[in-house]
Amino acid sequence: MAETRVRERPTGPETRKRPERDDGTRPAEPRPNPLREGLRLERMPEPCTMVICGATGDLTERKLAPALYNLMLGGFLPPEFTVVCFARRDWSDQELRDHFREAVNEHSRNRPVKPAIWESFAQGIEYHHGDLKDPAAYVDLARRLERIDRDRGTSGNRLFYLAVPPTLYPEIVEQLDRAGLAASGEARPVGTKRGWTRVIVEKPFGSDLESAQRLNREIAEVFDEDQIFRIDHYLGKETVQNLAVFRFGNGLFEPIWNRRYIDSVQITVAETVGVEGRGEFYHATGALRDIIQNHGLQLMAMFAMDPPVEFTADDLRDEKLKVLRGVKPMTPEEVVHNTVRGQYVSGWVEGERVRSYRDAPKVPPDSETETYVALKLTIDSWRWAGVPFYIRAGKALPTRVTEIAVQFKRAPLALFARAGTQIDPNILAIRVQPDEGILLRFGAKVPGQGLQIRNVNMDFRYGSSFAVDSPEAYETLLLDAMIGDTSLFTRDDEVERAWAILDPTIKAWAAGEGGPLHFYAAGTWGPPAADELLERDGRAWRRP
Ligand code: BG6
Repeated sequence: MAETRVRERPTGPETRKRPERDDGTRPAEPRPNPLREGLRLERMPEPCTMVICGATGDLTERKLAPALYNLMLGGFLPPEFTVVCFARRDWSDQELRDHFREAVNEHSRNRPVKPAIWESFAQGIEYHHGDLKDPAAYVDLARRLERIDRDRGTSGNRLFYLAVPPTLYPEIVEQLDRAGLAASGEARPVGTKRGWTRVIVEKPFGSDLESAQRLNREIAEVFDEDQIFRIDHYLGKETVQNLAVFRFGNGLFEPIWNRRYIDSVQITVAETVGVEGRGEFYHATGALRDIIQNHGLQLMAMFAMDPPVEFTADDLRDEKLKVLRGVKPMTPEEVVHNTVRGQYVSGWVEGERVRSYRDAPKVPPDSETETYVALKLTIDSWRWAGVPFYIRAGKALPTRVTEIAVQFKRAPLALFARAGTQIDPNILAIRVQPDEGILLRFGAKVPGQGLQIRNVNMDFRYGSSFAVDSPEAYETLLLDAMIGDTSLFTRDDEVERAWAILDPTIKAWAAGEGGPLHFYAAGTWGPPAADELLERDGRAWRRP
């Protein structure tokens, strides 16, 4: 990055003051962006307590517990850090700690747990037994948090993580408010600690534009926007953050990042897994809501945005929003023409037999939900007018890969046409995962007499270049939320705009319009109709 400003490690409660709001409260201070070079080493949050509401689910086991442990292991958490797991199961503190330890041993990128680190981490893990719908449980929680502030020195700083189905968000937010747990700083009652309060909400954030707007309104009744951290975990991936560094930290790419040089862009989010045990959720959600509305459109926005004036959370999100505003929602005819939806039937993935989606547990046998989507979108802006963005996402595909592939326009003159070799268009493939890296494909002369041309690759790989493990997305995002940096979280207007783009497609598909549901065998690259979507434009999907 051009600008390098290293934030000092915070040592106590925030001291700078921002203007008061009408109600006498003050918004939290914006913090510098984590993309800033040099910041990594300085990222230590203030002492705080994180409360995981609905802590006995899959998310805590697979993502949150390992992420917190790795942050502790990396020295990113202050010793006072405490995590309170709030759920209905009748567990003791010790049972919860054992559960966390198993989760880390099974899912952490660093394992097995290191006993010395574990001991100090485990001391800060508590279980809060209660029903998330019971007001008394929140009154008890408030008492517990005050006690933790006194005993462990967490300074009244609280991060609530809503690891529950979205239908419960409004209720939990309201309960937190009623128990006096939502206020930050000076809005807190006299005699209590004046720390900050933040809330992390998981995706999916709503199920269409209207429900997302309603949810935003309900949460905004209690929390200010700068207290709300809407997770899209793709934004926490190193390679996605590197998109900004790649584009704006190098002089080479930005001048050609536009319609004059770029022919088209393909975004692929391919998974080998099927819906596994998530049949109920998936039947109600589908690939468009599960992947495209958030991960797919965020990748597109990060790829296509203009350089922000500064790397502050709001400048960055303003630029992403501009991209999304340029994507016009489709007309009903465009939905038929520019979208393809598919569902997998039985097949083979990586040598394993996969049952049809409709045979997965808790999926109705006549489910019309899509497990595959391909879309063609365009961005009406000076930079991108006329450049198609093809986005596809699917389950039970042959390979797990997420990548953004840029196809450049051909050279204006086919000087080497007589060499008898077709030079393919240049491709720049940004590999988000796995084998994170960037590949440039171009034509080169085959050594020897005569003129033969072959396509070759120039390949940068994170693994071999840096020889260090990247943090998991949840590590980065939890740390950012504790620091108060909203850059890698989606803002209310961004989320709503993403739904607005997809609403016509959602509606058309729900009405049985917008083209048929195509079937594809597990282990193939989706239905042939998805290939036809590109063939009509004289293009083809890249095989990643
Ligand atoms: C989640 C989706 O947001 O992302 C899942 O709900 C999907 O269906 C997952 O499997 C993919 O994440 P990742 O990090 O494994 O690519």
